[in-house]
Amino acid sequence: MSHARHAYLPAAGRDVFLPLYDPLTKLLGADRARRKLFDQASVQPDHEILDIGCGTGTLAVAIKRWLPSVNVVGLDPDPRALARGERKAMAAAVSIRFDQGFANALPYADASFDRVFSSLMFHHLPHNAKLATLGEVRRVLKPGGSLHLLDFVEPGRHSLNPLARWLHASERMESNTQERILGWMGEAGLLDPHPVAFDERLFGRIVYYRASAPAQRDSVSVTTGSRPDCSTRTKSR
Ligand SMILES: C[S@@+](CC[C@H](N)C(=O)[O-])C[C@H]1O[C@@H](n2cnc3c(N)ncnc32)[C@H](O)[C@@H]1O
Repeated sequence: MSHARHAYLPAAGRDVFLPLYDPLTKLLGADRARRKLFDQASVQPDHEILDIGCGTGTLAVAIKRWLPSVNVVGLDPDPRALARGERKAMAAAVSIRFDQGFANALPYADASFDRVFSSLMFHHLPHNAKLATLGEVRRVLKPGGSLHLLDFVEPGRHSLNPLARWLHASERMESNTQERILGWMGEAGLLDPHPVAFDERLFGRIVYYRASAPAQRDSVSVTTGSRPDCSTRTKSR
């Protein structure tokens, strides 16, 4: 997939395909996967939630519908995807803050969120942004808060699923193995990183991960990205 026009890989690979992203992922069962990710997170009614790489806002909007009292912030570098998220939130009559930004340089204060979600986003990060992203997640999580991450795993050259082999044939996927993701989570200072569940889908194998911030803040810092001032785009509905 090409991303030469942006400093990020858009949801559907190219801007022109973005309108297809929601119908296609729905068809492939992504809604069920996002619900399963939410269910593993034991979200409480007063929680502050961050969805990194929120794309068109499907998970952020769904969380507000499932538990209206939580505060939800969605972050993504793609203004087109965020605009879709804003329209979705408006149609659902829910209030969500959408920020434009990068997961490896989060524009939020330390210890701001109880839960961080990452749905089908991690494989969009270049290799060198993956550890930095997990370091940022660790920094913005409140003590005892947790990360819930859902992503494809690299299918391997010998996978029997040709669709998965074709879809995930990129250098970004090469570092997306379960072992490396769990290793980076630990390196970033997140505790007890582990896979919670697996699903085989038409488009490949997905893994649901969980890891926690330590119960007390310490001085671990893994961030390598520069942190901008609060985002260039902040909108609530
Ligand atoms: C496949 S989409 C997933 C969107 C959404 N989370 C979902 O469940 O449908 C991947 C998203 O990651 C975003 N992305 C790419 N690079 C990013 C980065 N460095 N930080 C945050 N998001 C990024 C893309 O813009 C895209 O919206």
